[in-house]
Amino acid sequence: MKSAASVPEAEQSTRPVELARHDEAALLELLETLVQRHGYVPREFSDEVSRLVAVKLERLRRIQAKLDSTIRRDVQQHVARWRNEEGNLIMILHAIQNQHGYVPREVAMELSRELGVKLARIYEVITFYHYFKLQPPGAHNVTVCNGTACYLKGSTDLLNALRTELGVAEGQTTADRQIHLDTVRCIGCCGMAPAVVIDGKTLGHVKVADVSGHLVALKQSNQEARP
Ligand code: FES
Repeated sequence: MKSAASVPEAEQSTRPVELARHDEAALLELLETLVQRHGYVPREFSDEVSRLVAVKLERLRRIQAKLDSTIRRDVQQHVARWRNEEGNLIMILHAIQNQHGYVPREVAMELSRELGVKLARIYEVITFYHYFKLQPPGAHNVTVCNGTACYLKGSTDLLNALRTELGVAEGQTTADRQIHLDTVRCIGCCGMAPAVVIDGKTLGHVKVADVSGHLVALKQSNQEARP
């Protein structure tokens, strides 16, 4: 095995300050290069990596502690507001979803502790009601009506086209968290069947050929919104 002293000078010049500027991907790449060149990671580098990881972990712990206390405070407020009301679990879940756009797992766990209700029961309620979401919402929502009138007018084809274009199933959000695809049972506009709701705007008589155009318009609106 080579000693650290045999590391060429140019490589030894990669000092801690320079390392600190690397993001994790660059750091991993550097480590892989060192392993490829020397068959091991020289001691000064592994020490530096350990130090950086320890610093990051400490920061992570502090952020997590802050988050935990914020979550606890918010949940305590919701519980205090609804504690003696009938059906309080649903009311609290509504408040949580309004706040976050979905019900984060860590919030559900805190609610379970605070309310003295089993976590399994909370998830039973969340999954029973279509309204509650377990994943963060996308920046945009595309909802296909699959009520009877829309179904008869081809909503399944629309849904399939959207699934293909977006690469997600209903109830899911694209990997870039830009578009959430969902379905709904009748939005009361049966005369416009098949109907699709995009960011709260109802579009009627939608054709499969229109799907791409609507998605392009959404993507363009994202770009325009960027500074
Ligand atoms: S079934 Fe789609 S709007 Fe009524």
